[in-house]
Amino acid sequence: MADLAKAGLLLELDHEETVATITLNRPERRNAQSPTMWKGLADLGDELPETVRIVVLKGSGPSFSAGIDLRLFTPEGMPGEPSVLADGIGPEELVDQIGVYQEGFLWLRDPRFTTIAAVHGHAIGAAFQLALSCDIRIAADDVQFCMKEPALGLVPDLTGTKPLVDIVGLPRALELCLTARVIDADEARELRLVERVVKADELDGAVEELVNALLRVEVGAARATKELLQKAPGHTLGEQCLAERRAQVGRLLRNG
Ligand code: ACO
Repeated sequence: MADLAKAGLLLELDHEETVATITLNRPERRNAQSPTMWKGLADLGDELPETVRIVVLKGSGPSFSAGIDLRLFTPEGMPGEPSVLADGIGPEELVDQIGVYQEGFLWLRDPRFTTIAAVHGHAIGAAFQLALSCDIRIAADDVQFCMKEPALGLVPDLTGTKPLVDIVGLPRALELCLTARVIDADEARELRLVERVVKADELDGAVEELVNALLRVEVGAARATKELLQKAPGHTLGEQCLAERRAQVGRLLRNG
């Protein structure tokens, strides 16, 4: 199993090891993220027990996460972390390196899991993108999302641009990214960036309620349905109808 403490992560398994709760756990730095944290997340995606079908992602302390650890962009760097811009690194190597970072986010789309982000306080940059990597977001009423990368001379590159555009549409995604403005809880709900907003002290309870509802559906049906729904945006109606038929045959003949 990944060295979770080194990655700034905590893992709890509940409901007879069907639910994994992953906590970003560097509260003194507002859960600022690093390549080691992303590697830890990717490793969890590979190493969670087979029994796990629901993943909850949350942050400890006052914020979900303040995004990338900004020390990574300084000449001094971040203790224990390789520099993002290692001496002499070329463009193609950098493309590959960012691809490795993205693995920490991509696994949350795996149909094996239904993934929930429980977001409170700040969710900035990489943290907004991490929340966008989950299937469902539930937020506390103090949430503040911000796609800050363009304000720092960067682009959002941690897998968040596609879900953002899919959810809010291109014009709104452009406006949110190019102004790097803060999105509060009411607006996040209006834009369907979050499915539910609750008072901060009710967030854990709301997540548990959702988890219990999800657990009532048979696991194979949940996995097949997530896989099917994920295909819909890229399919024509005909292609999606075929995908439905195939998935249903898989369900109906699973014991035969
Ligand atoms: N990287 C490194 N350290 C951080 C980060 C970060 N992203 N965010 C917060 N910290 C540290 C602060 O330096 C501070 O450390 P200190 O106690 O040693 O001074 C500590 O965490 C607490 O932060 P405060 O700023 O004191 O907390 P506050 O609640 O007032 O503000 C906020 C929180 C708004 C999140 C603020 O810290 C902030 O703006 N952080 C930077 C956000 C950012 O630009 N992230 C990068 C986005 S782009 C991307 O993710 C790719």
